[in-house]
Amino acid sequence: PEVALRHGSARPMPAIGMGTANFPVVPETIRDAVLAAVELGYRHFDTASMYGTEPSLGDAVAEAQRLGLVASREEVFVTTKLWCTQCQPHLVLPSLRQSLENLQLEYVDLYLIHWPVSLKPGPAVFPAKREDAVPFDFEGVWREMEECHRLGLAKAIGVSNFTTGHLDKIMATATVAPAVNQVEMNPVWQQRKLREYCAEKGIHVTAYSPLGGQNWSGQGNAVLDSEVLAEIAKARGKSLAQVALRWIYEQGVTPIVKSFNKDRLKQNLEIFDWELTDNDLRKISQIPQKKMVTATGLFSSEGEFTSADLADMEI
Ligand code: A2P
Repeated sequence: PEVALRHGSARPMPAIGMGTANFPVVPETIRDAVLAAVELGYRHFDTASMYGTEPSLGDAVAEAQRLGLVASREEVFVTTKLWCTQCQPHLVLPSLRQSLENLQLEYVDLYLIHWPVSLKPGPAVFPAKREDAVPFDFEGVWREMEECHRLGLAKAIGVSNFTTGHLDKIMATATVAPAVNQVEMNPVWQQRKLREYCAEKGIHVTAYSPLGGQNWSGQGNAVLDSEVLAEIAKARGKSLAQVALRWIYEQGVTPIVKSFNKDRLKQNLEIFDWELTDNDLRKISQIPQKKMVTATGLFSSEGEFTSADLADMEI
């Protein structure tokens, strides 16, 4: 299955994507995992300048064409993202050009602003220092995102980790509205309010950390450990991961799932020929909610982040 994006991208977005964020970056591992994914049928890949995986993803896409696994570039949907240190109007276009060079591509299918956070320009440091945060020129940065789209370097443009408040700021001045908002979304962080807003505005939602992520915060994985999901999986004869991914898909959201293991990559694709029951959906709707990724995690120092822009990260 595929999703048509509002900008009428080169090709519709395949209804499941493969994530490539992985630390530390081991280029061969990423290239091999992407090639295995292409063989299995994945056609949608997600990277970011911040991940350092653009070159390996680009190698894999080029190799897939050489091997005849895909007939042409147009068969593959590639997303990359503008990092916080590049969130200045004059840096948007050069950053995309650099990403394209890393990816060995002439265009990306989707270009996203990675966070509604602007950091002092310079090399990407993660986590960043609090004092490196600078005011975000939403109007100016979005104008340049629109320029990327106009030039055909990004077939569609969008945002990531944006709340309804951040989206309001973009919508107020946009000529080309964002096609996508990529956010943390899974049965343990369902994002109902944000999804309602996006549906109203015609913004497609894609879900990162659909399986609860890679234990970034050291708090374990509330999705893979969920007893409710385990119970449903048992009753349906599916894996817990498949239940989580199927639920996301049934919400009209596109999961971006990361696995570098061939069996799990295959398993994660097998979610399109069965359904959850109303009772399953009711049980999932009652799962206690917990957000795992926060903007404060971008910064090294502890304590409350007081910026009004980030105060509403929850919605
Ligand atoms: P692995 O690469 O070893 O498969 P995310 O929520 O960010 O997509 O991350 C999911 C994490 O869960 C990844 O670290 C991935 O590790 C693991 N994973 C991916 N698919 C499955 C699956 N089907 N079953 C169990 N774990 C999975």
